Amino acid sequence: MKFLNDIADLDPKLIDQLLMLAQRLQKHPEPDALKGKILALLFLSPSLRTMTSFQSGMARLGGNSFMVSPDMAIHNLELEDGAVMDGNKAEHIREALPVIASYADILGVRAFAKQESLADDLDDKFFNKIYKLIDKPLINMESAIQHPCQSLADWKTLDELTIPKKEGKFILSWAYHPKALPLAVPASTLKMATKRGMDVTLLCPEEYILPDAIMRAAKDLANQNGGKLSISHDQKSCMNGADIIYAKSWVSPIYYGRNSEEGEIRAKYKNWCVNDDWFDTNSTCKFMHCLPVRRNVVVSDSVIDSERSIVLKQANNRLWAQMAVLYHMLLGV
Ligand code: CP
Repeated sequence: MKFLNDIADLDPKLIDQLLMLAQRLQKHPEPDALKGKILALLFLSPSLRTMTSFQSGMARLGGNSFMVSPDMAIHNLELEDGAVMDGNKAEHIREALPVIASYADILGVRAFAKQESLADDLDDKFFNKIYKLIDKPLINMESAIQHPCQSLADWKTLDELTIPKKEGKFILSWAYHPKALPLAVPASTLKMATKRGMDVTLLCPEEYILPDAIMRAAKDLANQNGGKLSISHDQKSCMNGADIIYAKSWVSPIYYGRNSEEGEIRAKYKNWCVNDDWFDTNSTCKFMHCLPVRRNVVVSDSVIDSERSIVLKQANNRLWAQMAVLYHMLLGV
């Protein structure tokens, strides 16, 4: 595999292979497997889990990593093609990325959505451009519309639960957040759950239905894998019998790039905070979130601190899933 990008494109056999490898590396450390190999991490957007889990994973496999981000003492990076660089941007990504790549065996890049044009972000315009600048293996560490590492870790987390792999009822729920957040996690999560063949419901206010392209891709995955996909705007009826609620906030596709209008719409839904009232008394439904999460805005303390919550397991599984990805991409096994 040369490019880890879209969970939808991964062969199910490869997903199984990667997650078996992840489990093996978790149980039986291989501290010399990637000796002499170097991972370059370019963070054009912030991170805690992705940054530290890749660094830790590479070290556990005997390799090395280095990180580059605009917060460090690097030259200001210009990302726009055709820019006249007579301002404060001293280096273009067109030189910077190949230079970084030349020092490493594999790269990870994170660049969140610009949230100006929905079409450009759905096409992952920036990420697809930079992919062509290098000839080394590349890991998408979250782009405008993809977060495959999160989805692989979440797949592993779901495998570790006792709910059936296929028929489990999976709710991807929008939640309130004071900022308009990108579509990458909900898009990847919807594809991950439908690719597993789960009974998936997108629960959200009507303005927050994911873009048609994402809904169509998820519907195709559901059809191919014996799953279901539906949409609900009603928390109470939707949560009935749910095995998983995966909460996340995202921008309204209808008001994409129109921040103040979008903010006015979003403000109507401050009550979309997952709390105990969302669950029936006997519900065994688990709570998932990719983190970071705003407590008592997206989810109440009482839910995230309860036994329902598997958010720390999800975060821990980033380490093992990504170690398997590095191992596979660098060693071809
Ligand atoms: N879930 C996730 O990608 O976390 P970070 O943004 O902290 O890397």
